[in-house]
Amino acid sequence: MFVRSHALVDEVLTTHDLFSSDEIRYSASEIPHRDNPVLHSMSAMDPPRHHELRRMVSRAFTPRTVDALTPAIEARAAGLLDRLTPASDFITEFAHPLPLATLAALLGVADEADFVRWTDAITTFFGQPEARPAFEQAVTELREYLRTVPATDGIVAGLRESGLTTDEIVNLAGLLLINGHETTKTLLVNMVLCLAENRSALAALRQDPALVSSTIEEVLRLMPPAGGTDRFSTRAGMLGGETFEKGQRIVVSMAAANRDPAVFPDPDGFDTARSPNPHLSFGHGIHFCLGAHLARRQVTVALTAMLARFPGPWTVEDLVTRRSPVGTDVLALRLVWSAERDS
Ligand code: HEM
Repeated sequence: MFVRSHALVDEVLTTHDLFSSDEIRYSASEIPHRDNPVLHSMSAMDPPRHHELRRMVSRAFTPRTVDALTPAIEARAAGLLDRLTPASDFITEFAHPLPLATLAALLGVADEADFVRWTDAITTFFGQPEARPAFEQAVTELREYLRTVPATDGIVAGLRESGLTTDEIVNLAGLLLINGHETTKTLLVNMVLCLAENRSALAALRQDPALVSSTIEEVLRLMPPAGGTDRFSTRAGMLGGETFEKGQRIVVSMAAANRDPAVFPDPDGFDTARSPNPHLSFGHGIHFCLGAHLARRQVTVALTAMLARFPGPWTVEDLVTRRSPVGTDVLALRLVWSAERDS
């Protein structure tokens, strides 16, 4: 079943006893990527285990953690932007490395080369046999690292204190890599696409930096990095007049809900002052994105620095995209700015 309206997407996400996240337990079909860490982490759990784990993780991963990481995010963003030119690929030179460095700092991993290798191996493994050796190697190295990392670095010490086992910390780290990297990278890219296309919005943003936060929310609404998610029905029932069976996969589209005209006036317009903006891009209910604050902070840092450095209107050149089963992935783009001020 495919759910698209804001009200019904919200209902599925907030009715976790009927719409379970536990695919292994409730899915009526075969799961080809059963050993992906995400299927053994809190995002694939229901209460009471989900509540317990989320409480433990939230104790280590707080708004204070994000504040403590912010100077490192600012320094990394500045360093990357110093080297960015209109000839550079914005993704390889900025949108990819910034969230990766943030996650490495969050987990206290000092060697970024190792971290890049683990992240690539873990985030690209979805059951294909040829990718398994690299995936297993990465999980083994990550486990060893997280077992031995000094207690002062990143959130790992706090997770240990909360009582998480090393395996639980490894599954959580895998989840943070999978949920936290690609999504933030995509949001940075989508922000550039939106602001290059909407010159007056970019000009207004320069006049009034207070719009940075509502601009980011509007990019999240119009181009959500995670356009959908799924749940599995724990019993048969009805939703929006349609019946579903027990164990049925219910796909919810946040991308569609975010453009529901019943909730958003001018749903396809890019309104950087939109208020309220109850988009569902970070989900809703008990699985609401644990990294929303961190993602918003990174993009705020990035956008603020980019506004100061890249004057005039922005244009996007050499855009390379690829169709994926859930939308369009942007593979490359150059961000070109002009020395003249826009008005
Ligand atoms: C959950 C989106 C960044 C960690 C989610 C969910 C969404 C989402 C939609 C809920 C999925 C569901 O209910 O099935 C995003 C977007 C991001 C982002 C759009 C960036 C723009 C991050 C970051 C981290 C993170 C940076 C961590 C470093 C998590 C975790 C969960 C989650 C741990 C699972 C929470 C739970 O099951 O209780 N995210 N995310 N996310 N996200 Fe994010």
